[in-house]
Amino acid sequence: ASVKQPYRTSYHFQPPKNWINDPNGPMIYKGIYHLFYQYNPKGAVWGNIVWAHSTSKDLVNWIPHVPAIFPSQKSDINGCWSGSATILPGYKPAILYTGINPQNQQVQNLAVPKNLSDPYLIEWVKSPHNPLMAPTATNGINASSFRDPTTAWMGPDGKWRVIIGNKRDRMGKAILYRSKDFVQWTEAQDPLHSADNTGMWECPDFFPVSAQAPVGLDTSIIGPNVKHVLKVSLDDTKHEYYTVGTYNSVTDKYVPDEGSVDSDSGLRYDYGKFYASKTFFDSKTNRRILWGWINESSSVDDDIKKGWSGIQAIPRAIWLHKSGKQLVQWPIVEIEKLRTNQVHLPNKLIKGGTVLEVSGITAAQADVEVSFEVKELEKAEALDPTWTNPQMLCSQKGASVKGSLGPFGLLVMASRGLQEYTAVFFRIFKGHNKYVVLMCSDQSRSSLNNNNDKTTYGAFLDVDPLHEKLSLRTLIDHSIVESFGGGGKSCITARVYPVLAVEDGTHLHVFNNGTQSVGVPKFSAWSMKKAHIY
Ligand code: FRU
Repeated sequence: ASVKQPYRTSYHFQPPKNWINDPNGPMIYKGIYHLFYQYNPKGAVWGNIVWAHSTSKDLVNWIPHVPAIFPSQKSDINGCWSGSATILPGYKPAILYTGINPQNQQVQNLAVPKNLSDPYLIEWVKSPHNPLMAPTATNGINASSFRDPTTAWMGPDGKWRVIIGNKRDRMGKAILYRSKDFVQWTEAQDPLHSADNTGMWECPDFFPVSAQAPVGLDTSIIGPNVKHVLKVSLDDTKHEYYTVGTYNSVTDKYVPDEGSVDSDSGLRYDYGKFYASKTFFDSKTNRRILWGWINESSSVDDDIKKGWSGIQAIPRAIWLHKSGKQLVQWPIVEIEKLRTNQVHLPNKLIKGGTVLEVSGITAAQADVEVSFEVKELEKAEALDPTWTNPQMLCSQKGASVKGSLGPFGLLVMASRGLQEYTAVFFRIFKGHNKYVVLMCSDQSRSSLNNNNDKTTYGAFLDVDPLHEKLSLRTLIDHSIVESFGGGGKSCITARVYPVLAVEDGTHLHVFNNGTQSVGVPKFSAWSMKKAHIY
C-alpha cells in the first residue's frame, strides 16, 4: 500500500527519498545546469555523505544521475563534504571539496570530469595529488574546522584564490589559499577575512556584484564599479550572514562597508530557514544564482517515518540593490512557466478585521503576488525603541494580535475553518523619523500536530510606505512557504506540516487584522504545475 506523503514538494528540488543537505558545486556547463548536493544514500538522517547529482536545462525540471563524488580514496574515505565548482581555462570544470580522511580530519580535494565531451559530466576522477590542502603539525589549522572550499577566482597576478571555512577558538575565519595550477596550493599569511566570537564559518561564499546594474558578474571580475559580498553560514546558530564590502585584490583582504558577520548587526539572505547556501554565475543569462538548503521543522522520528529530510529552495537571482547597502533576491523567472490558471482580484479596499478567501486555486501548490497600499500612515503604532529584534517582535505580535496598520497579508496553507494557517504579513510602525515596516512569517497556528517546530520568523523591510507599495510574493509548495517582501529585499522561508490543510483541503486568504483599511491594488495567484525532478 502506498503511504500518503502530503508534505512532499511538487516544484522544489528533492530526491525520491533520504537525507539531503547543502547544495554543492552548482554551475552551468555547455548549456546544462548542474546541481550536486550532500546526500545520504542509506537513510533519512545525516550520514554516509556523497555528492548526489542532477542536471537541468531550465533550473525547473531535473534529470537525476548517479552520485558524482563518493568515498573512494584515503583523503575522502569517511565522507565527501561540501565544495564548489570552478570553470578553468580551456572550459574545464573542476571541483574542490572537503574530504574526511581515515583520521577524521577535514582536508580539501580536487576532482575533474572524466570525459569533457559528456555534457552531463557523469563521471568524475579524483586528483592523485589529493589532499591538496590539509591541516599539518606546523600550520596550526584545526582539523575538525577546516571545510567547504568556495568557487576559486583568479587575481590580477594570474594566480587562483580560494577560501576555506575555519575557526580558531571562537574566531571564525575565511582561510585563503593561492595556486598557479589549481593543484599546488599555498596558504596565505592572513585570512581573507575573520571575525571574533562568531564560531565556525561553514560554507563561505565570496563573489563580486555590480554597483551599476542588476546583473550578475563572473567570480573573478574586479573593477571600479564592482563591490564584493562575503557570506558565511554560522554553525553555532545555523543562520547565514552576509556583508557588502570592498575586496583589495593586491592585499587579498576583504573589508565590509558596514555591519559585520555577527548575529546582531548582520544582513541575512533569509530570515527563516535557509542554510549552507552557495551562488554561481550563470554565463548564459548573466545572472548570479543562489541555491540554499531548507531543512525540516518536523521531528527526526517523523522524518524517518516519511523517509526523507531536506529540500532545496527555489534558485534565486541575486544582485546588489541600487542603494549599495543590501542584496535583492528573486525566484528565477523560469519557475513562472509552471504557473497556470491565474486568479486575479480587482483593486480592492480591505477593511480592518476582514478575511477574504481566494478561490479557484490549488492552494497547497501556488505562487501568489500581492501588493498593499496604506493611506493613513499617521495612524501607525509607535515603535518602542527597544523593539530591535524583528523575530521577537513578530512572535509577540503574531497574526492574531490586532494592530493599527496591520497585521495584513496572506493566510496560506489554511484549513477550511482556519484551525490551521500560516500567516505571512506586514505591520507598519512609526519610528523615530521614519516609518518602519515589519515582515513576519507566523507558523504558530500552522499545524494541529505539536511535534513540529512552529517558531515565528521576522525581518525588517527597508521600504518606505509613504512612497512605495508593500509587495509580497509567496511560493507555496505543500510543506514550504517561501516569501519575498519588497521585491526581494527581505525573504523568509518556513516549513509547515498541517494535518487538515493538505492537498484539496488547503485554502488561501488575504487578511487584514488591523483597525485601518488597506488597499490591495494588485493581486494575482497561480496554481503551480508539478516539475519533473526525479
Ligand atoms: C553545512 C555542513 C558543511 C559540511 C557539510 C557536511 O551544513 O556542515 O560544513 O561540509 O554540511 O554534510
